[in-house]
Amino acid sequence: MSDTKPMCLSGKGVTKVFGLGAKKTVAVDHVDFEFYEGELISIVGESGSGKTTIAKMLLGLIGVTEGQVFFQGKPRDISTHKKKKEYWKDIQAIFQDPFSSFNVFSKIDAVLLDCINMRGGRWFSRDKKTSMMTEACSFVNLKYAELTNKYPFELSGGQMQRLMIARIFLLKPKILLADEPTSMIDACSRATILNMLMHLRDEIGMTIIFITHDIGLAYYISDSVYIMEHGKFVESGTADEVILNSKADYTKRLISDVPKIYEEWDLSTV
Ligand SMILES: Nc1ncnc2c1ncn2[C@@H]1O[C@H](COP(=O)(O)OP(=O)(O)OP(=O)(O)O)[C@@H](O)[C@H]1O
Ligand SMILES: [Mg+2]
Repeated sequence: MSDTKPMCLSGKGVTKVFGLGAKKTVAVDHVDFEFYEGELISIVGESGSGKTTIAKMLLGLIGVTEGQVFFQGKPRDISTHKKKKEYWKDIQAIFQDPFSSFNVFSKIDAVLLDCINMRGGRWFSRDKKTSMMTEACSFVNLKYAELTNKYPFELSGGQMQRLMIARIFLLKPKILLADEPTSMIDACSRATILNMLMHLRDEIGMTIIFITHDIGLAYYISDSVYIMEHGKFVESGTADEVILNSKADYTKRLISDVPKIYEEWDLSTV
């Protein structure tokens, strides 16, 4: 939360209702938020609380039932395909399942070339494009020469996640939405990927919206934290305000559920 940084993405009364009548689900229920440029914002909540739904609305993949999203302080307009494509230059995402993020019939070169083209590099020489792709791969510790001519399904889960970050490195969006990008991989790769994202944020001043169940991790990496329960933000503020001085019972419960790995086992009660 900052008064000095420019507003990046914000929302008033943003709501998503799926279905009708008895089958109606209010997945996101009148949420307000203000995300500032260059911040790392975490949205934390349990399964089914509406995190992915809000991510999809922010990306413009699904419509908003009620309310309004603002981009850089102005009402967001993605009413035409052309406007949507423009908007997607500024906002990109890494999803829970990396396998769903790529066209399985595109080779990895094509995936990365697409990013260069989107950033206006269509007419760059083949050499320049290759050197950009090589640089992006080495940023995430992948070897371009070993990937060229492969299909995404020929990569491991961890390599795939890193390929997604290589895409972001080339696209340099203003906003990156990361929906639990680390859930598929081990703790060590998870730390590496988070470090890569933080490094990228420092390098290009990107805003990161990080969606997770892990309140401990959110405390460690975030500037601002939004706690989500049943489609509502029950609490928001700086990481210190929300996690060290929580007001909502729900937040307190999430915190108390974090396993305390340093606490000694008390076997006397067993
Ligand atoms: N396309 C859909 N049609 C109907 N209901 C949906 C749809 N997508 C999501 N929902 C419902 O909306 C609610 C919120 O789902 P959402 O995927 O946003 O949760 P989440 O917080 O991302 O959960 P998780 O942590 O498990 O990923 C759930 O009750 C879900 O069943
Ligand atoms: Mg989800």
